[in-house]
Amino acid sequence: MMAARQLRVLGLSGSLRTRSYNAALLRGARELCPVGTTVEVFDELGTLPLYDEDLDDDPLPSAVAHLRSRIEAADGVLLVTPEHNASVPAALKNALDWASRPTGAAALTGKPVAIAGASPGALGTVRAQIALRQVLSAIDAKVLARPEVLVFRCHERISPDGTITDIATENLLRELLMGLSRQIRAQHDSGMLTA
Ligand SMILES: Cc1cc2nc3c(=O)[nH]c(=O)nc-3n(C[C@H](O)[C@H](O)[C@H](O)COP(=O)(O)O)c2cc1C
Repeated sequence: MMAARQLRVLGLSGSLRTRSYNAALLRGARELCPVGTTVEVFDELGTLPLYDEDLDDDPLPSAVAHLRSRIEAADGVLLVTPEHNASVPAALKNALDWASRPTGAAALTGKPVAIAGASPGALGTVRAQIALRQVLSAIDAKVLARPEVLVFRCHERISPDGTITDIATENLLRELLMGLSRQIRAQHDSGMLTA
């Protein structure tokens, strides 16, 4: 029997902040992958121009071309989002808008996507994640329904140096990454993905 191919997941954090809890969660996810899956971090959301249809033409801004090619090369995507004013932070929404075009042939369309988020508040990004699911539905990405990874009171679960200190959070991330890997392999087996 042939060994299963190594799966590559591209991870994006919606925070540009150096000491971001969400970026810490994403870094932690790299260590929590099932065997056969790796998470690579894309940390260049801050270099993308604001979406402008005039710029969405050849030659593309290099940051946009880079984002699209990294998503295309990945088997799946992990989005880790803060909540800004009860919704998706602008930096992440901007990246998703770039990754949503050209319609019908966009890097994110049909791609398996898992989502998670951390907030110091009591709701743990639930409103941002609902908004994120709506955006991803418009892009026709294949979003995992569960587990819902809502890291509320994240300052009690992630230390100031960016280490996840809470076993329940680690287990949820593990379960999320396992689910994402399963979905990728199921889509590969059904012929829905060629990557
Ligand atoms: C503009 C802005 C709006 C925010 N709105 C919310 C919010 O709606 N809900 C929430 O839980 N936290 C909100 N916060 C607090 C963030 O959850 C907090 O800053 C968090 O640490 C950001 O994630 P990060 O650590 O990954 O950067 C907001 C912060 C900013 C700067």
